[in-house]
Amino acid sequence: MVKKILIVQGGGRARGNTAQLIDAFSKGVCDAGHHVEVISLIQNEVKGCLGCNACRYEKLCIQKDCFNDLVSKIKEADLIVLASPLYFWTISSRLKAFIERFYCIAQVDPCPPLGHYEKYPIKDCALLMTSADHYFWTFEQAVSYYQFTLINYIGFRDKGMLLAGDCGDTNGTPPKKNR
Ligand SMILES: Cc1cc2nc3c(=O)[nH]c(=O)nc-3n(C[C@H](O)[C@H](O)[C@H](O)COP(=O)(O)O)c2cc1C
Repeated sequence: MVKKILIVQGGGRARGNTAQLIDAFSKGVCDAGHHVEVISLIQNEVKGCLGCNACRYEKLCIQKDCFNDLVSKIKEADLIVLASPLYFWTISSRLKAFIERFYCIAQVDPCPPLGHYEKYPIKDCALLMTSADHYFWTFEQAVSYYQFTLINYIGFRDKGMLLAGDCGDTNGTPPKKNR
């Protein structure tokens, strides 16, 4: 079955390491016959949630940015792939802002399980990340956030993580293995 895959790029560099990882991933899933769309959060600005609650439940956000136009793409996607460079040991603020705005796709749950307040559309989800360092703990905070928020709380189904350490720095310093 052909799947609709929505990749959300939270990195800032159009030809950077994360973009290259996205390209490789996209080629693989396209070759397997699936449909891929990449949304750049540089080209589609999404601000953080204001916490005004005007969107509860499933109403549009009052903010005038690109998020409301992305809601239909999120709802139609079978798999949402979150992609980001590692910034200060976690996902980029752009990607975090995008996830905060899931507040307006939440649905009322009349009987939420312990620790939950609402329910969300059920989606497959994956995480793609790049970083300069490559220690065993390099992606720990990002993975923890992904697993706790996207998988345990929102309820997306984890389809895996591609965590590419040692990609070199954004100032042009090459990966450590090439120095
Ligand atoms: C603001 C900033 C913060 C960063 N923080 C980290 C970090 O905490 N750990 C790390 O290993 N690399 C860090 N890096 C390096 C990037 O994660 C790495 O170069 C990444 O592959 C860049 O992806 P891009 O080319 O898609 O922008 C940081 C880079 C920037 C610009």
